[in-house]
Amino acid sequence: MTRHLITSALPYINGVKHLGNLVGSMLPSDLYARYLRARGEEVLLICATDEHGTPAELAARAAGQAVEDFCAEQHEVQKGLGDAFALSFDYFGRSSSQQNHELTQHFGNKLLENGFIEERVTKQVFSIDDDRFLPDRYVEGTCPHCGYDKARGDQCENCTRLLDPTDLVDPRSAISGSSNLEVRESKHLFLLQSKLADEIREWVNKHKDWPNLVSSIALKWLDEGLHDRGITRDLKWGVPVGREGMEDKVYYVWFDAPIEYIGATKEWADEDPDNRDWKSWWYEAEDVRYTEFMAKDNIPFHTVTFPGTQLGSREPWKMVDFIKGFNWLNYYGGKFSTSQQRGIFMSDAIEMLPADYWRYYLLANAPESSDSSFTWDGFSGTVNKDLADTLGNFVNRTLKFCNSKFGLALPEGGEYGEAEAKLAEDLAKRVAAYNTHMDELQIRKAMQELRAIWVMGNEYLTEAAPWTAFKTDPVAAAVSLRAAINLIRVFAILSAPVIPSAAKTLSDALGLDLNERSWLSDDMVAELSTLKAGHAFEIPDVLFSKISDDQVAEWEEKFGGKE
Ligand code: MF3
Ligand code: ZN
Repeated sequence: MTRHLITSALPYINGVKHLGNLVGSMLPSDLYARYLRARGEEVLLICATDEHGTPAELAARAAGQAVEDFCAEQHEVQKGLGDAFALSFDYFGRSSSQQNHELTQHFGNKLLENGFIEERVTKQVFSIDDDRFLPDRYVEGTCPHCGYDKARGDQCENCTRLLDPTDLVDPRSAISGSSNLEVRESKHLFLLQSKLADEIREWVNKHKDWPNLVSSIALKWLDEGLHDRGITRDLKWGVPVGREGMEDKVYYVWFDAPIEYIGATKEWADEDPDNRDWKSWWYEAEDVRYTEFMAKDNIPFHTVTFPGTQLGSREPWKMVDFIKGFNWLNYYGGKFSTSQQRGIFMSDAIEMLPADYWRYYLLANAPESSDSSFTWDGFSGTVNKDLADTLGNFVNRTLKFCNSKFGLALPEGGEYGEAEAKLAEDLAKRVAAYNTHMDELQIRKAMQELRAIWVMGNEYLTEAAPWTAFKTDPVAAAVSLRAAINLIRVFAILSAPVIPSAAKTLSDALGLDLNERSWLSDDMVAELSTLKAGHAFEIPDVLFSKISDDQVAEWEEKFGGKE
């Protein structure tokens, strides 16, 4: 049987992530993992914080903390928020772990042995006043391409061009502001990607089923030609190169970060070595299907760079089978931005409303085929219509009405008739479509199908109208209520990967012990007859509250809306 390895792009450590980060990798990876577990599949879902690099060091400096302490603290913050959003990672690791150090050095050594890494003497910016080299973002200055005067040594935020620190005009230290800088020679390791380009292309071309977004970005990079990349830096925080003559150097963050997918799996196994084995998931792992989730800016690193590292090791590492890439979720048409604190961050969101509200909205509006935009109106509209009016109301009116006429148990009497046969038939079609969309990771389509299933329940109930039927034909009312309460069970099962907490509330209300391994069979007649007459239930609290216009106005004001 196939085992499913699933990874989410690793959230960077420099601060709490925004909703765009959440929907761009972590949340859909959780959706997929929950769905597969429910289908009875063996799943390992891995994530971690990405902790190295100059943005982490600069954020620590801004917070007045040692970088080790900053990362340790922020890791806990992000882990807590992941839990709050019910992200069901089997392990949430840290790229600064010992395990990742060892694996990164292993890959570095193998690439060197195989002739894919070479030492070169390079020119680096050195700050005399700070008495240190200033790699990447440690230098700021004017962009030689567009003249923007706050360009950083790795990239110009204004024109997005990639830069080298020595490219900047009027450079200054991001630490001290000093412009007392000079260029010094420093020895570094270069990954000879050009030597691997043909192999990488061949591997990419084998994956005809990748989404267009993913393969087009991969091929664009390959077509533009792979340049040899410097993969070490003059820094202390990071994975030490560990070679003679390179004592003060660490690997570049984009070299060690994807290796942490493996590293975190090892962290997971090391927690319980008697019962967990990391290697069978990653090495000669022919029975594993590996799926990655990420936003589009990460695609080149996962289709070209990391595969190059794996191929160049000349060892049988598990390479990705399917990549689900996402466009951007914008905030009112502009970018969410961590550095500018624009948009909604996971910590804000969870203080306002429970995770399920956000999970459903974000998945239903996932930026799959194009960028999508968060607006407060869109959010409140979706919550009120789909979650409160459609799902919540169905549950509420069914259980309350049943209680008022028959008590807190499924009513006795009568057999299912034509309407219920039709319901089962329609449901079977929709559930099959839902399964297919989930299997294919068509997330918006899956959410549309789920909503259509909730709508179907409402339509059935409106048609059967037990509140009217009860007056003339109480047996007919009893029959439709039994079907409707069985539908609540069906909704609980199908909705669990999306809104796990609401699903649990429904399962508890029906006295069921649905767990993460519960799913529906193909036989909808049987599914609608699972709960029998006499089965007791409780009436849960309101499943989803509506968002008022006043709340929308308040949040628009607080978070900055339209402008
Ligand atoms: N931290 C990166 C980002 O936020 C993603 C790293 S994914 C990894 O874009 F695979 F490289 F770890
Ligand atoms: Zn520029």
